[in-house]
Amino acid sequence: MSNTSLLICASQCWPKRVKAVEGFSHQLAQQVLQRSGWRGRLLLALLRWPSGRTLLRCLLHASLPGIMAHYHWRKQHIAAWLQQQITQNGIQQLVIIGAGFDGLGAQHSAAHPQLQVIEIDRPTTIKTKQAALRQLNALQPNLCLQAANLAYCSIVDLLTETAAFSACRPTLVLAEGVLMYLPDTAIKTLLQQLQHSVQAPLTLVASHMQLNPQGKPGFVKQGWLVDTALTLSGERFVSGVSLQALPDWLMNMGFNLQQLAAAGQLDNPDPCPGELLFYATAKPTHS
Ligand SMILES: C[S@@+](CC[C@H](N)C(=O)[O-])C[C@H]1O[C@@H](n2cnc3c(N)ncnc32)[C@H](O)[C@@H]1O
Repeated sequence: MSNTSLLICASQCWPKRVKAVEGFSHQLAQQVLQRSGWRGRLLLALLRWPSGRTLLRCLLHASLPGIMAHYHWRKQHIAAWLQQQITQNGIQQLVIIGAGFDGLGAQHSAAHPQLQVIEIDRPTTIKTKQAALRQLNALQPNLCLQAANLAYCSIVDLLTETAAFSACRPTLVLAEGVLMYLPDTAIKTLLQQLQHSVQAPLTLVASHMQLNPQGKPGFVKQGWLVDTALTLSGERFVSGVSLQALPDWLMNMGFNLQQLAAAGQLDNPDPCPGELLFYATAKPTHS
């Protein structure tokens, strides 16, 4: 189970932020941490006590200041885009790649019974999430949790075998905090296969690491401590793109950039810049 996805859960449980985080996401994160072995229980214990939170805050500040608030910033933008795409652009299917323990899919399946939600993640993550959602009575009939390791199976085959998936529905694919773990060639294959799988309008909401001037993917303030932690947990960033190259990079993957969340926005800046967050639409194919 990914350490980063557990850290994202912890960000949803941080007492100061709980008011801003949807009640459901907070409950789901708590349920998941309780079911995630010693790592989850340690995070819960740290979050429960003021001195534990101070320790966690100091550790995070020393390694990557603003990261917890960054996750919140990222999720706020995604939630707003998703809501807009469902209510105004007629999205009928939401496919979440590497969904982790995010509550968005469960929330939207409950709020929009006509929306088919398919979440894909590794088997251990799906098992834990399924148990947590069952406990919260949140396993809606239009929510399908699909266990798969995308390193070993193609998304075309996976979606073909998923009864809940329909190629004819206008679809939004969400890849939040996932693309940076795949090499460019694998991202291209994934995005091209998605275009072949969906015969209706296709929108992509995704994040990807920015490349620093030395060509290394990472957060602007990322130092050796984070590099080491990511390497040790097998979550090293292997790819990225520069801000300037993003439109062409997407074009090369078959998508047109529609909007980029501005990291330097005056009223809502990204607390930990370095991860590009955008939405794009698939170029029409002539088959
Ligand atoms: C950093 S977490 C992000 C989770 C979630 N999207 C979020 O932002 O809250 C990355 C997720 O991608 C999943 N993932 C990474 N590689 C994968 C693979 N090869 N197949 C399936 N899932 C994968 C991990 O299990 C993890 O849940």
